[in-house]
Amino acid sequence: MRLTLILLSLVTVSLAAPANFFDGAYDFSDDLAGFYAKVSQHISRVQKSSATPSATCDLSSITLPSYASGLPSPDGLTPMHVALGRGTQNYTCADSTSKSTPKAIGAVANLYNVTCMSADYPDILEMLPNVAYKISLPTNEYATLPPANIDLMGHHFFYDATTPEFNLDTVPLKQYGIAMTKKQDQISAPSDAIAGQYGAVAWLYLTTTDGTVGKYKSVYRVNTASGSPPDTCQGMPSSFEIQYSANYYFFGN
Ligand SMILES: *[C@@H]1O[C@H](CO)[C@@H](O)[C@H](O)[C@H]1NC(C)=O
Ligand SMILES: *[C@@H]1O[C@H](CO)[C@@H](O)[C@H](O)[C@H]1NC(C)=O
Repeated sequence: MRLTLILLSLVTVSLAAPANFFDGAYDFSDDLAGFYAKVSQHISRVQKSSATPSATCDLSSITLPSYASGLPSPDGLTPMHVALGRGTQNYTCADSTSKSTPKAIGAVANLYNVTCMSADYPDILEMLPNVAYKISLPTNEYATLPPANIDLMGHHFFYDATTPEFNLDTVPLKQYGIAMTKKQDQISAPSDAIAGQYGAVAWLYLTTTDGTVGKYKSVYRVNTASGSPPDTCQGMPSSFEIQYSANYYFFGN
C-alpha cells in the first residue's frame, strides 16, 4: 500500500509542484514520459485488483538491471539493500582553458531506502534516478526525500581520494553499518541514460575494504543520471559540482 502512495505522490506532486521543485522538469522528455507511463500502469493495475497488491518486499527477488551484466556478477552474494543516491559529483580544474580536463575528486550524496521498490517494482526503480537528479535535497540531511517521502538510508562520500564510503548508520535505531569500498570495474552508462548537462556517470562495481562494518562485500552503482563533467575545463571554475542520481545495490554474505 505504501508503495502505491509513493507512486501516486511521485506523479501528482511532480505535476502540481511549484516550478522550482523539479527545475526544468517541465521540459517534456522521453525519460519523463516513460517514467509516468510505467507509474500509471502500476497504479491502474493496483486500482483494478481488489486483492492486496503483490508488494511483498522479498529481498531474494532483487536483481541488478540487465545492463549491469557488463560488470562482474554478484553471484553467491545476497542482496542486502538498494538505495537511491542523490547528490553531486565534485571536480577540480587546474585552469579554465580547454588544455586541461576536469579531475574527479569524489561524490557526496544522500542515500534513500528503495529496497522494497527494487524487489516489487524494479522497472519503476530503474527510472527513478532520471527524475530524482533534478529534485532539490531537503536541507535537513536526515529528512525523507520529497515528493514521495522516501526514507533516508545513509550517506555516501569519499573517505579519501580512492575510498568511496557508504555510511548506513543514521539515527540510533537505524545502525546498518558502513561499507568502505574500492572501485574494481566500470562500464559507460547505456546510450539511453539521462545525460543532464554533460552525460551520465559510469556504472561501477566496488568491493569492500578494511574498515567495513557489517557483511557488505560489494556495491554497484547503476541507473546513473547526469554527473559527468564537461570534456575540458574551458570556462570552468577551479572546483565545481555536477548534480547526479543513481541506484546503489549492496550485496553481502
Ligand atoms: C563536494 O560538494 C559538496 C556539496 O557542495 C561539498 O559539501 C563537499 O565538501 C564537496 N566535496 C569535495 C571532496 O570537494
Ligand atoms: C528499508 O525499508 C524497509 C521497508 O520499510 C525496511 O524493512 C528496511 O529495514 C529499511 N532499510 C534500511 C537500511 O533502513
